[in-house]
Amino acid sequence: MEKLSNDSTGHDWWHTERVYKVAKHIAREEKADIFIVEIAALLHDIADWKFHEGNLEAGPEAAGSFLLKEGLDPGRTGKITNIIRGISFKGNNVENNELDLEGKVVQDADRIDAIGAIGIARAFAYGGYKGNQIYIPDLNPAIHNTFEEYKNSNTTTINHFYEKLLLLKDLMNTRTAKRIAEERHSFMQTYLEKFYSEWNVNI
Ligand code: ADP
Ligand code: NI
Repeated sequence: MEKLSNDSTGHDWWHTERVYKVAKHIAREEKADIFIVEIAALLHDIADWKFHEGNLEAGPEAAGSFLLKEGLDPGRTGKITNIIRGISFKGNNVENNELDLEGKVVQDADRIDAIGAIGIARAFAYGGYKGNQIYIPDLNPAIHNTFEEYKNSNTTTINHFYEKLLLLKDLMNTRTAKRIAEERHSFMQTYLEKFYSEWNVNI
């Protein structure tokens, strides 16, 4: 485990650590295979498409060859690479991959980390990295019918709330994650109310 942890440092390690902890918690509650969930959570962002020219296979391939090299059997390696391939958000109107219970757990944990106070911080950080503005009042949120549209969209970070973050609560797979999501969701709603109120200088 130590070895895997060290191997994934550098690229947003804190996100990975939080997803790992949340995923373990959900896995226990939902009686999923803890080993598969742990390894998939630790490796889920090993080679994100956003940093590999939109290539959705970069992550599963990197994780698969790493695990086989470490001596994990092909069966469990395949289960883990399927999870890494399947969990990523590809647009609000794009069909999701079919996931097994362990995949559902890791996807939920990844999505939990995209909402609430942490989710808000990550969204503004990502928006800044992309050079996006925080808010443009007359720019409406978009519907993304394909992964290409989502990937290439030029949005504001406030619009990202409507294009993804506020949708995640109802997209949670497990009851445990739905419960965790409720509170984080209502915090984001409160945050948006405050944001608009300050934007409009209601003082
Ligand atoms: P996931 O881990 O679910 O695949 P991503 O890797 O797509 O999430 O995104 C990483 C973080 O950046 C998430 O918190 C996500 O909500 C945020 N993010 C993604 N796209 C945008 C965007 N266009 N504007 C602001 N934040 C974004
Ligand atoms: Ni992630």
